[in-house]
Amino acid sequence: ATQFRLHKTVVLVGMMGAGKTAVGRALAARLGVPFLDSDTEIESAANMTIPEIFARDGEAFFRSKESQIIGRLLDEERGILSTGGGAFLAEGNRKMISDRGASVWLKADLDVLWNRVKHKDTRPLLRTADPYATLRDLYEARVPIYEQSDLVADSDGETAIEDMVDRVIAAL
Ligand code: S3P
Repeated sequence: ATQFRLHKTVVLVGMMGAGKTAVGRALAARLGVPFLDSDTEIESAANMTIPEIFARDGEAFFRSKESQIIGRLLDEERGILSTGGGAFLAEGNRKMISDRGASVWLKADLDVLWNRVKHKDTRPLLRTADPYATLRDLYEARVPIYEQSDLVADSDGETAIEDMVDRVIAAL
C-alpha cells in the first residue's frame, strides 16, 4: 500500500452499524497508516467488554473513559480512528477531534443500520423492549450532531467496504 503521511488523524463518526470499524480498518490498510479504535482500547484498558462496562459501571463511566481514550489516541499518533457511535455527541470530544483531527461521518439510512445491528447483542443501549424504536430515537437525535462533522461519506445499503473506503478518500 502507498504510505500516506497524515497531517491529522481521520476520525470516523456515526451511528452503530455505520461500519466505522470495518471501514476504518480497511481505510488504514489502504493508506498504510495505523488503525485505532476507541471501543477496543476501552475494552482492553478495562479488561471487560462494553456490555460488561455498562452493566457494572454505567454509561457515565463509559463516557468518561471514552473521552480519556480519544484524547490519548489523538495525542499518540496519527492514523484512522474509529469511535463509538456516541463519541461525537459530547461537546468536549467534538472540540478535541476538531482541534487535532478531521471528522468523517459515515452516513447510512436507519433501515441499513437496523439490518446490521439487529442480530447482535454487543450494544447495551439497544437492550430495550423495542430496540428498533430505540435505534430510531438515537438516530433522530444524533443526525443533527453528526452533521457538524468536517466531511461526510454516504453509504447506501449496497455499498461494499472497499467502496466506502473510496468514498472516504474522495471526501478527504
Ligand atoms: C454506542 C456505540 C457503540 C459503543 C457503545 C455506545 C453509542 O459503538 O461505543 O455501545 O452510544 O452509539 P459502535 O458505534 O461501534 O457500535
